[in-house]
Amino acid sequence: MILVLLGPPGAGKGTQGERLAERLGIPKIATGDVLRAAVRDRTPLGLEAKAAMDRGDLVPDDVILGIMKDALGSPEAARGAILDGVVRTVPQAEGLDRALAELGRSLDGVLLFDVPDEELVRRLSGRTVCESCQTPYTGREPGTRCDKCGGVLVRRKDDEPEAVRNRLRNYHVQTAPVIEWYRSNGARLSTIDAVGTLDEVLDRVQKSLE
Ligand code: AP5
Repeated sequence: MILVLLGPPGAGKGTQGERLAERLGIPKIATGDVLRAAVRDRTPLGLEAKAAMDRGDLVPDDVILGIMKDALGSPEAARGAILDGVVRTVPQAEGLDRALAELGRSLDGVLLFDVPDEELVRRLSGRTVCESCQTPYTGREPGTRCDKCGGVLVRRKDDEPEAVRNRLRNYHVQTAPVIEWYRSNGARLSTIDAVGTLDEVLDRVQKSLE
């Protein structure tokens, strides 16, 4: 099963993507996580992406298409994958279609996480993430430890107010057209009300997949 998770920053794509991946027994592929690991390890990819990410801008499509192809072609993704934030522009949606066709596979569904902007700002202003495994937390101080892996919790640079405003602007301008693209290309697109407890949202996701 190949699923695309779409939605604005802070909508819960990472949180629910992880839980869904566990339930379905397939990996979650998140371009944001891949890029942050590259920045942390100071690889050429990380050096190229860092400035754009810190500002809350998108990194270039060709960089994302390279990550996407590598990840989809890996043995871990042979049974399927949850694609978290992997598609944010129309050229990326087209590139994913081409990459899947080359692998003899196709997209099973697109889940659009819907959350009002004021709730997104509230979530991101209180978020810390584990530096090692990227698990997000709400209401936990930087410097405390991750429950999952013991890593240190940090604030993301792009969760500063100016970068959050920029990410939301970019979402509405660059990513929102992807929704229409999927609709007009016959994808199975479900809009998930992503306000509620984590279990309520996951239940809605599961119902939409039945
Ligand atoms: P990325 O890391 O993907 O950032 P994002 O899309 O902005 O999404 P977030 O990680 O901020 O939010 P999320 O929806 O995963 O929410 P989360 O589960 O954490 O990308 C970072 C950057 O990388 C981009 O800005 C760009 O520069 C670059 N990039 C990545 N992919 C790219 C691409 N394809 N093209 C170009 N550039 C790309 O939840 C948020 C918070 O809310 C957490 O604290 C969580 O605990 C909490 N929460 C979750 N669910 C709930 C709930 N139901 N109720 C209350 N709180 C909740």
